[in-house]
Amino acid sequence: MPKDIYDLIQRPRRLRQDANFRDLLREATLTTNDLIYPVFVTAQQNTKRAIETMPGIYQWSLDRIQEEIDQVLDSGIRRLILFGIPAEKDAVGSDAINEEGIIQQTLRKLKADYPELMLITDVCMCEYTDHGHCGVLADQEVDNDQTLNYLQRQAISHAEAGVDMVAPSGMMDGMVGAIRDALDDHNFTQVPIMSYAVKYASAYYGPFRDAAESAPQFGNRRAYQMDPANRREALREAELDIDEGADILMVKPALAYLDIISLIKDSTSLPVACYNVSGEYSMIKAAAEKGWINGDAVMLESLLAMKRAGADIIITYFAKEAANFLKV
Ligand code: PBG
Ligand code: ZN
Repeated sequence: MPKDIYDLIQRPRRLRQDANFRDLLREATLTTNDLIYPVFVTAQQNTKRAIETMPGIYQWSLDRIQEEIDQVLDSGIRRLILFGIPAEKDAVGSDAINEEGIIQQTLRKLKADYPELMLITDVCMCEYTDHGHCGVLADQEVDNDQTLNYLQRQAISHAEAGVDMVAPSGMMDGMVGAIRDALDDHNFTQVPIMSYAVKYASAYYGPFRDAAESAPQFGNRRAYQMDPANRREALREAELDIDEGADILMVKPALAYLDIISLIKDSTSLPVACYNVSGEYSMIKAAAEKGWINGDAVMLESLLAMKRAGADIIITYFAKEAANFLKV
């Protein structure tokens, strides 16, 4: 090539030439403080039940949960989101609002035994209803406005049991406002709401529904969760939740929705969380088990991509594993 062609070359590789340069110029970083770990708690006794579709994830009974919490604390993770599997389910999800319900018992025990842990709860009815839908039914459809009343009672009940933050996940219209009102009326003005504001009707939730035993017994959730084709609607959902008093906005799932995380981050000033959901976890675990990918590397790259897209907070089943990597 003639000399003048070389003169025209811009050389971004200069800044990638060694680890010292790369470390200096890295734009996004993943830290243990970004991560929230989901924990499934069952009302059964003496239980550590493996979730077959999610290697490394278990349903824990309260009498054995110490084993899990010790690993969590050892990894450096300090924040959990709790999911309950009640002893009994019914049409209106009574366990969800019972003072002696599985989540309420869990909150009291973990708060007493591990005051350093931040405890977040999923506020939704699908783990507690025998039909598996996220609200109460009227004519085989989820009745939005009646459901709000149950969500209010569930949030208050969690707050009374000591929850640090509630995370309503049912995609009911008005849920954030209803829960904010109810919490404030009961003097829980300090309990923040991390809203599952932008939650898609996703096939990636499959393994979670095994873990939480919460698959809908008929139909699907497409009449309340969002259409995966929609982007502008995500803005509307986010705006409504901001108006209603959400403190943190969540996008869910994460990996197939990085464009939405970025959109929400750029168009609002609230902190943005994303949920790296069960199917995203299972796909990496399955491919790694087959030896088709390097599971650890793909895990870290995926979590970093969520940070790069704009997530401030990542809820992930990888939290313990990733944190163990980050501390060495
Ligand atoms: C409850 C809830 C779900 C998830 C979190 N909260 C399931 C659903 O909406 O069907 C999914 C989490 C995951 O897949 O890891 N509404
Ligand atoms: Zn639900």
